[in-house]
Amino acid sequence: GHVFTYDPGFTSTASCDSTITYIDGDEGVLLHRGYPIGQLASKSHYLEVCYLLLYGELPTAAELEKFELTITRHTMIHEQMHNFFRGFRRDAHPMATMVGVVGAMSAFYHDSTDISDSQQREIASHRLIAKMPTIAAMAYKYSIGQPFVYPRNDLDYAANFLHMCFSVPAEEYHVNPILSRAMDRIFTLHADHEQNASTSTVRLASSSGANPFACIAAGIACLWGPAHGGANQACLEMLREIGTPDRIPEYIARAKDKNDPFRLMGFGHRVYKNMDPRATVMKQSADEVLELLGVEDNPLLQVAKELEQIALHDEYFVSKKLFPNVDFYSGIILEAMGFPTSMFTPIFALSRTVGWVSQWKEMIADPQNKIGRPRQLYLGETARDYVDVENR
Ligand code: CMC
Repeated sequence: GHVFTYDPGFTSTASCDSTITYIDGDEGVLLHRGYPIGQLASKSHYLEVCYLLLYGELPTAAELEKFELTITRHTMIHEQMHNFFRGFRRDAHPMATMVGVVGAMSAFYHDSTDISDSQQREIASHRLIAKMPTIAAMAYKYSIGQPFVYPRNDLDYAANFLHMCFSVPAEEYHVNPILSRAMDRIFTLHADHEQNASTSTVRLASSSGANPFACIAAGIACLWGPAHGGANQACLEMLREIGTPDRIPEYIARAKDKNDPFRLMGFGHRVYKNMDPRATVMKQSADEVLELLGVEDNPLLQVAKELEQIALHDEYFVSKKLFPNVDFYSGIILEAMGFPTSMFTPIFALSRTVGWVSQWKEMIADPQNKIGRPRQLYLGETARDYVDVENR
């Protein structure tokens, strides 16, 4: 009784309805619960945006204070989970470690895995948002052979993350407020982006009734790919490979060559056929951070700026509507802050956790919710008879 449509890559199929995030890709508009991303990035801050995404409205001062207190009090992870990190090779990519550790949360937090209980769902969502920076920072510390650094409750969300990444027992990292603001802005700009690949993965995984930690681990795994969250690492590696502005034309030519699989990382988007509004804010933020750190003459930045200008005026990129996306500038900021490229995607993952969690909560609370079960276009053999092995 069903009419099937064939839409590989879901280029024109809605998989759900949602009231969280709106994108108009032609106009370059991104709204969370109706509020433009530019306003949220300049006037609000990450935890307030988390509240907005989760509950639909901006919090009152009292609601915000309570929410921040709740998140702060959940930042430590079960001590036994430290052993889990130690089971990985030191040279494991932090994303690999995060997929494992976040999935393992379902083995530690039994009182928040029953998805039929709204209170447990609430606790699971708070735990995920609170513990993700701790987990990302621990994955980093482990990879560089330094001891884990416990969270500090007197610091805000972004400053605490910088502390856990850069402090060592011998010396506390001094968190510059301009840098923690830039960090917070990176979190805010990545907080949610409607039904992208990783969010759709979280929804599909949870449509079977799987526990939230398992579903978020699935989202992290999907985000890792270079066409999605892995683009920020790939972009910086590309800028480094280009090295000097005089080599840009060679890479532009490669990106245009249909026989070369190379793509300009940080350019293009499935939905945005205009400037990514997140990229506009990220670019300003990059300028601020580099000025503060006195590294405006950073060669990577010069390559990035020239590449952007050349691509924005090149017939190929113009006609295909390929604009810089959010990941084009985030890497430059993170590099200037002292993060290795392998931490770029974990930072995206911790930022996006609230989006995954909000979409998951919305889906579970929907009485129409049913298991996601796409159909296919079968192109294989028609029915045929089995042939005994000696007759093949
Ligand atoms: N460099 C060169 N050519 C490109 C690029 C690029 N970055 N992106 C798209 N194209 C071309 C592509 O070859 C195709 O050409 P044609 O129509 O002649 O075959 C056309 O533009 C359309 O591309 P598509 O692959 O059909 O578009 P898509 O919507 O499937 O892919 C994308 C979107 C983001 C995967 C792609 O633009 C890409 O691979 N970009 C580089 C990776 C990247 O920066 N990803 C981060 C996305 S933003 C953060 C996030 O959401 O995770």
